[in-house]
Amino acid sequence: MKRILITGAAGFIGSHLCDRFIAEGHEVIAMDNLITGDLKNIKHLFPLERFTFYNHDVTNFVYVPGKLDYILHFASPASPIDYLKIPIQTLKVGALGTHNLLGLAKEKKARFMIASTSEIYGDPLVHPQTEEYYGNVNTIGPRGVYDEAKRFQESITMAYHRFHGLDTRIVRIFNTYGPRMRLNDGRVIPAFMGQALRGEDLTVFGDGSQTRSFCYVDDEIEGIYRLLMSDYTHPVNIGNPNEITIKDFAEEIIKLTGTDQKIIYKPLPKDDPMQRQPDITKAKEILGWEPKVGREEGMRKTFEFFKGLSTEELEKTEHRDFTAHNKK
Ligand SMILES: NC(=O)c1ccc[n+]([C@@H]2O[C@H](COP(=O)([O-])OP(=O)(O)OC[C@H]3O[C@@H](n4cnc5c(N)ncnc54)[C@H](O)[C@@H]3O)[C@@H](O)[C@H]2O)c1
Repeated sequence: MKRILITGAAGFIGSHLCDRFIAEGHEVIAMDNLITGDLKNIKHLFPLERFTFYNHDVTNFVYVPGKLDYILHFASPASPIDYLKIPIQTLKVGALGTHNLLGLAKEKKARFMIASTSEIYGDPLVHPQTEEYYGNVNTIGPRGVYDEAKRFQESITMAYHRFHGLDTRIVRIFNTYGPRMRLNDGRVIPAFMGQALRGEDLTVFGDGSQTRSFCYVDDEIEGIYRLLMSDYTHPVNIGNPNEITIKDFAEEIIKLTGTDQKIIYKPLPKDDPMQRQPDITKAKEILGWEPKVGREEGMRKTFEFFKGLSTEELEKTEHRDFTAHNKK
């Protein structure tokens, strides 16, 4: 049995990681300051002896008694709406938080993994994005707080690997979706599903010709797990290469939800990437991994989750508004 620290454990991906490691028979120490996460995502694990929760902000010194085999640093605001609201915390959790946790990993001789992102490629000039592409990021734009925090996170992780010989892994996660996403996190899937459930028209930013590739959470977790268990220390893209325009996607959602809503168009947020598609050759070759869940099946399961939310939860959802994003 391994002992694993997972930060960001009360969030969307973090909570699914907790489930996976518990299911594998390990002991999980979950850490989160609940800034964007919710205890309801992990409350089913509370009765288990192999599960402990620490309410802690990882930008402060992190102390965990006893041995640790793996540290997975997944804490970070993760959606444009979140990092617009809390830009300084976003930079701090990527920089100070990562530094604190690397120190802990060094002390415990634990394997260390960070959740990096396709955002490190910025608005990419290379398509699809391979791990060798360095990216096209606006350092001072509104998204810069997230993109640069994640780029710094990769740099400091590699520095600990090279300088201290720390055993490290870097997963570059592309858009992931599934149950436990937050309705109001501003990402396109919960936004469309929330609008469909409230009987509102679906908002597309720009003309909808921008593309995204969505990976179902079970596939993403499998890729992360395999990377952690591998001996590969350079970044690996984990995402679904099946690309779709936002306009076509909105139409799929209207069909799936059985609603007769229209699509309405609003101005594109600043620095919104026009194309996103992972090149997963490395993941296939090194990890023998590729996504298995098709968009139709994944979206159906996700919609079932959102349908299960109370009317109160549906109604308190804020509308996506990127106006502040576009200010200089
Ligand atoms: N969901 C995606 O599509 C996606 C894509 C690329 C990368 N990622 C990365 O995966 C990780 C998880 O993303 P998610 O979608 O689950 O987001 P999420 O917002 O659901 O989860 C993030 C969690 O981190 C916690 N957190 C934030 N700052 C913290 C701090 N200072 N101390 C302790 N806890 C803190 C939040 O409370 C939340 O529970 C993030 O690092 C994100 O950057 C996610």
